[in-house]
Amino acid sequence: MRNPPLAGAAMPEQSECLLLFGATGDLMRRMLLPSLYGLEADALLPGDLRIVCTARSPLDVMGYRALAETAIRSAVEAERLNPQTLDRLLARLTYEPLDASFPDRFGALAHAVGPIERGLSIFLSTAPSLFGQTIKGLTASGLSGAKTRLALEKPLGFDLPSSRLINDAAAQAFPESRTFRIDHYLGKETVQNLIALRFGNALFEPLWSASGIDHIQITVSETVGLEGRVDFYDGAGALRDMVQNHMLQLLSLVAMEPPAQFDAKEVRDEKVKVLRALRPLDRASAALHSVTGQYGAGAVAGVPVPSYEEELGHASATETFVALKVHVDNFRWKSVPFYLRTGKRLPTRQSEILIQFKDVRHSIFERRGAALKANKLVIRLQPDENIRLLMMAKQPGLDREGLRLREVPLDIGIANAFTDVRRRIAYERLLLDLIGGDPTLFVRRDEVEAQWDWVDRLRDAWVYNGVVPRLYPAGTWGPSAAIALTERDGVTWRD
Ligand code: BG6
Repeated sequence: MRNPPLAGAAMPEQSECLLLFGATGDLMRRMLLPSLYGLEADALLPGDLRIVCTARSPLDVMGYRALAETAIRSAVEAERLNPQTLDRLLARLTYEPLDASFPDRFGALAHAVGPIERGLSIFLSTAPSLFGQTIKGLTASGLSGAKTRLALEKPLGFDLPSSRLINDAAAQAFPESRTFRIDHYLGKETVQNLIALRFGNALFEPLWSASGIDHIQITVSETVGLEGRVDFYDGAGALRDMVQNHMLQLLSLVAMEPPAQFDAKEVRDEKVKVLRALRPLDRASAALHSVTGQYGAGAVAGVPVPSYEEELGHASATETFVALKVHVDNFRWKSVPFYLRTGKRLPTRQSEILIQFKDVRHSIFERRGAALKANKLVIRLQPDENIRLLMMAKQPGLDREGLRLREVPLDIGIANAFTDVRRRIAYERLLLDLIGGDPTLFVRRDEVEAQWDWVDRLRDAWVYNGVVPRLYPAGTWGPSAAIALTERDGVTWRD
């Protein structure tokens, strides 16, 4: 659901045109076109919204619509495909070929976009090297007016200085209030549910701090490998690709103070405070608190897969796995470790946040021989969405051989609780919020820069210490040093 406007707040205008750069690319085909289809099917796109697509390929409108149709047909399940919906969406699409590296060639694109008095939303999912020229072209052709919003897809740089260059280039034409930086994890329903769970229930907040919580684990594991993204991934690695953005965003949502309101300013103000409070992993601490790995040949779900270097075609020191022990140095999280782990070619695809509560202060059951386990809250973001609270309960019986207590789950299967609601692609939400002008689920410049600042220090420490990733067989949970990272503290990763 869209957020209703705050009482008395000015409602941003819905854009009358959506302009998509990178329109023949992978993101467009796999995510954006299927998302637009989902929104069209539910009549959520403004009735008169025009969608202008652009890329370098010399296609005409019909050629592009054919490409879009193929992409939608292969991404949307057959039972959701409706010919009228498809036709309605395709009819909105126009296409204008453009080499965006020439800012003086944007005239025809501006013509295809047409009137934008009621607002234009632009989505850039091109190579970042094109951002600067594209923004110049938009300005030169009159497409960066006062009612234009600009959404930027990652990678937004590869370190703090390069991210600043991109942000500065955007700021030349778009004030921060009209710059929408995408982190698609924020569009995921369960990620938003984290906010509902924390601040919509009286149950958790009193315990949500160092007084109630022992540690927190955040795992984002993937079974896929390089997926043909040779050029991009090898220059990035897991730290830049996953930790800098998605994992630090998850961490900031878990750790932030309650915002006064669920709105763009308040939520982002609280997130950035967490990011700034992250204790740097510097040259001295990085060796003990971080582990990097790269997958070798192995098997995932019983299927043999080649090593990273074999997929890449040459030797490489890029990490495909990272495990970190992180602290948020503030009042709430004093001495609570956050363990973060992400990697490719791991045994399962799962994104999960584990909140490990502290032991009860005193066990009254000890003399009766019953052991207690501390409560756990497991928030699973994908592949299935559920929230599970692990609690102690008495095993039924007459206790002749002593009292038995057992850990039992209290499950909230989101899919079961809301059976009538389709699970949406994260980009459906983000596209709709862009068109409607709600930046709450987009990343502000200060956040992105705080993320880079922290990540750059860690990278510097790795370079200084000559860290090379340790090999792990594909289909395992990373190098054994990642296990040692938590076991040293008496903590076991939840696999
Ligand atoms: C992207 C990364 O940002 O997120 C990819 O570049 C990664 O490497 C992907 O596979 C994971 O997203 P999701 O939504 O599948 O968890």
